[in-house]
Amino acid sequence: MKLQSVNAFLIMFAGTVVIGLFYFGFTSPSLRYIEQRLCLNKTKKSRENALLQSPQGFIYKQPSVVGPDGKVGPLTPWLAPIVSEGSFDPTLIDAIYKQQNITVATTIFALGKYTIFLKDFLESAEQHFFVGFRVHYYVFTDHPEQVPDVKLGEEHELTVMTVNSLSRWQEMSLGRMKRLELLIESGLVNDADYLFSLDVDTKFYGRWGAESLGDLIGVIHAWFYYTPREQFPYERRPESQAFVPYSEGDYYYGGAVLGGSVKQVYQLAKTCREQLDIDAAKSIEAAWQEESHLNKYFIYNKPSKLLSPEYSWDDKRGTPREMKMVRFSQVPKNYDEVRPNT
Ligand code: GAL
Ligand code: MN
Repeated sequence: MKLQSVNAFLIMFAGTVVIGLFYFGFTSPSLRYIEQRLCLNKTKKSRENALLQSPQGFIYKQPSVVGPDGKVGPLTPWLAPIVSEGSFDPTLIDAIYKQQNITVATTIFALGKYTIFLKDFLESAEQHFFVGFRVHYYVFTDHPEQVPDVKLGEEHELTVMTVNSLSRWQEMSLGRMKRLELLIESGLVNDADYLFSLDVDTKFYGRWGAESLGDLIGVIHAWFYYTPREQFPYERRPESQAFVPYSEGDYYYGGAVLGGSVKQVYQLAKTCREQLDIDAAKSIEAAWQEESHLNKYFIYNKPSKLLSPEYSWDDKRGTPREMKMVRFSQVPKNYDEVRPNT
């Protein structure tokens, strides 16, 4: 009898405590706040982990771009997709990203005589590059008056960023990482979700849309996808910060295209700029300037998505069987005409 009433009391007491906790949990602003903060912390942490870092000096087999069937492989050995024609549904992927109401920012560097490329670049971009999405071009130039008046699509915007002239084409290339870093620090691209940096001496020939979006994006160079890694044109002098040993490297990436989330592009630009500064202080210029530093960065910070050479072709190079289409390509140029030095 006595035991029963003690039990009943305990059950009632426990019930009250549980109901009380529930009530307190749902109504107390402080508890809700803590809960929210925990969620935020979790989200932030997973974003920070998005960098796919791999250790230096780690030896493994070089991945191949084209498989035995003559087709571009679908994945890297770290399971990042390699985007090529046939690997995605353009209408589906655009529809998914349209729901997210994204803005894509794109920097283009047109210094000295490189402004002659702007018209074709912009006109062809307007036909193929993120059609139907919000796009914001940032054109860096020392000749703002030479930026052509190209009619832009709805929700497409262009900002001219006037910069000082440079005397060597190598410096035009070398300065891009710093400009990218400063642009992001300035907060100007805060409205953007993704950021690309594209070479201006190029032209779009085909669709380039939401399939190219991801945290960190690199493009496989048009000339080296059959090349053994020890023959990649990496910087090979150990004195340079861009140095890559013969036993390392996955793919040779083109410097004409880089991209990703604003946060990841900032990390990349800042790191490469720091490495470029160290080299400059020692009067070392890497074999292919910022492209060499970019390639080093991508070995130890793997891109989360790779674009096949369809996204950075070269007009000089025909179209071999394994390339189903060309979307973006370097246009032939007379170096003597566009470069201030050799
Ligand atoms: C060329 C390209 C250069 C550089 C070089 C590397 O085809 O025009 O920008 O990437 O390959 O060897
Ligand atoms: Mn170029």
